[in-house]
Amino acid sequence: MPKICVFPGDGIGPEVVREALSVLRTVEEVAGGRSFETEEELLGGASYDVHGVPMTERAMGLACGADAVLLGAVGGPKWDPLPFAVRPERALLGLRKNLGLFANLRPAKVFAPLLDASPLRRELVEGIDLVVVRELTGGIYFGEPRGIRVENGVEVGINTEVYTRPEIERVARVAFELARKRGRKVTSVDKANVLEATELWRRIVTEVHDREYKDIDLSHMLVDNCAMQLIRHPKQFDVIVTTNLFGDILTDEASMITGSIGMLPSASLGGRVGLYEPIHGSAPDIAGKGVANPLATILSVALMLRYSFGMPAEAVWIEEAVEKVLADGFRTGDIYREAPGVRRVGTGEMGEQVRRAVRKQAEGAVRNIVR
Ligand code: IPM
Ligand code: MG
Repeated sequence: MPKICVFPGDGIGPEVVREALSVLRTVEEVAGGRSFETEEELLGGASYDVHGVPMTERAMGLACGADAVLLGAVGGPKWDPLPFAVRPERALLGLRKNLGLFANLRPAKVFAPLLDASPLRRELVEGIDLVVVRELTGGIYFGEPRGIRVENGVEVGINTEVYTRPEIERVARVAFELARKRGRKVTSVDKANVLEATELWRRIVTEVHDREYKDIDLSHMLVDNCAMQLIRHPKQFDVIVTTNLFGDILTDEASMITGSIGMLPSASLGGRVGLYEPIHGSAPDIAGKGVANPLATILSVALMLRYSFGMPAEAVWIEEAVEKVLADGFRTGDIYREAPGVRRVGTGEMGEQVRRAVRKQAEGAVRNIVR
């Protein structure tokens, strides 16, 4: 039986993961035959509080031995004063690095019922369907030298942006392959006019393109311009490929143009085990209140079924169920706007509505086969 390692994490993590897992159980029920073993472990601040470290060896072992990992979120102000090495974020970064997850796919798609939740005008947003491929195990997040030290009596903070040829080539290939299944367009985002590491990035992405992916329309964009273009004309993008840090920043921006950061799932690939997590954080301000939006985590389960378990039909059931629930007017606080037929619901009720819609999707699918 395939095994999923589950890290609910901190803040709203446990609440949204609970709903996502329960949607997975519904898929098991209705898909008939495929079931999954799940095992939960503490990660992040929750692990620090019990074990004194944000990720135990047991937790790492569990992730390595699983077929996929589902993660809620880590971190929170409670742990901010901790020394760098034991901060919750270290667990997430360690997990990504140790599992070799160099390609982070962050799709930003607008659900039609949420068009008015975007801060941008409807005509700018309608039909946005882009994916950011964020390099995830290199760049300034991991580069050496790093640290804070005193040099000649002055405190100095140091981080280093480093990219090697193989790191750039492999993530570029992921982006080009993905574009082949979509709109055949890749925008590579860098700061090649200032940073040598990304001057190399631009050169190598171009080489890989010219050698292996001539059928894809490749363009390059400076990151500051890209931040602007995402607001000015977001529909111009299909696949964006970029560095770890730029990808971190641009995906928060991309999520907001689709309505809420509470809607965007992600898949981290490249190793044997895929990692699936919402792109939002632990939202400590609303943790434990039962109001968080579970849809990004639920949609992350859909990505898991698609990429780790070869179950694209079931992935679509979940995605269409989410669309249906939104069309029926159910909204958590982050995407709520008062309007006729629109109802504000909590985390649990949102999950329940999705489960109901998944059952209907599955019934419909069976009916079509019988017919
Ligand atoms: C993300 C988050 C993480 C990152 C943090 C929590 C370390 O912001 O997944 O986008 O910077 O990668
Ligand atoms: Mg981020």
